[in-house]
Amino acid sequence: MAPKRKAQAEQDETSVSSSKSDASSKKQPGLDSYPPSKVYRLIEPGPVLLVTTGSLADSTHNVMTIGFHMVMQHESPPLIGITLGPWDASFAALKKNRECVLAVPSVEMAGVVVDIGNCSADDANLTSKWERFGLDALPGARVKAPLVGGSDIISNIECVVEDTKMVSKYSMWVLRPVKAWINPDKKPGEGGKMFHHRGDGTFVVDGDILNLQDRMPASVPLQPENINNSMHRVFMKIDSSPVIAE
Ligand SMILES: Cc1cc2nc3c(=O)[nH]c(=O)nc-3n(C[C@H](O)[C@H](O)[C@H](O)COP(=O)(O)O)c2cc1C
Repeated sequence: MAPKRKAQAEQDETSVSSSKSDASSKKQPGLDSYPPSKVYRLIEPGPVLLVTTGSLADSTHNVMTIGFHMVMQHESPPLIGITLGPWDASFAALKKNRECVLAVPSVEMAGVVVDIGNCSADDANLTSKWERFGLDALPGARVKAPLVGGSDIISNIECVVEDTKMVSKYSMWVLRPVKAWINPDKKPGEGGKMFHHRGDGTFVVDGDILNLQDRMPASVPLQPENINNSMHRVFMKIDSSPVIAE
């Protein structure tokens, strides 16, 4: 990793842990800590997400499904935009607490995730989606909204609301990740398959990885695993064939 980026990543982790050191350094079952400055790698592929809001401590926590979101900034600080509108019960909780968790589910959860997105905490006969769908709610380190537990969750990203300027016009919330978690057994491309909404109730699932890092050295951050590629690119022909990772 380039020294500047490494310093930033370390600073992100430090600034998170220095403000709430006990909570931030605690362990979560089945999850490892993940740097907020790298969460764009979890979101940029555009997976269907779960959003949790409310507070686990007072049992007002809720969960819903979204497909509309985008990475807005890698780091300094990392920023993510999500579309979550007043038609969702979650809207009021997000407005009140200004915090949420974005959970990335793996394809094994696809049916449940769609069902979660087709019922509301406002539905008269629904007590709790957590109970109804057998979801584990785990306490977050930095926010009141819970993480989604379970072996089919790829990651959890704890976020605070950074900017609400586009909410009234576009229902677009700008979120700042403050803590993130990865399931070591379900890392994207290493056992974890995300799924992506095609907009009509059909989905595509992660498949082959097309490795074009040698063609975009300027925009691929220098990670330890990329440094060799980056040096190697100097000797590559510009029209070299893409490599499909095994
Ligand atoms: C695949 C899928 C994608 C969805 N994407 C969004 C979205 O991007 N934004 C949104 O506000 N609602 C989206 N929804 C709908 C919400 O999940 C739905 O309104 C849900 O009932 C809200 O729950 P709540 O009322 O308890 O907050 C989506 C639903 C599904 C099934």
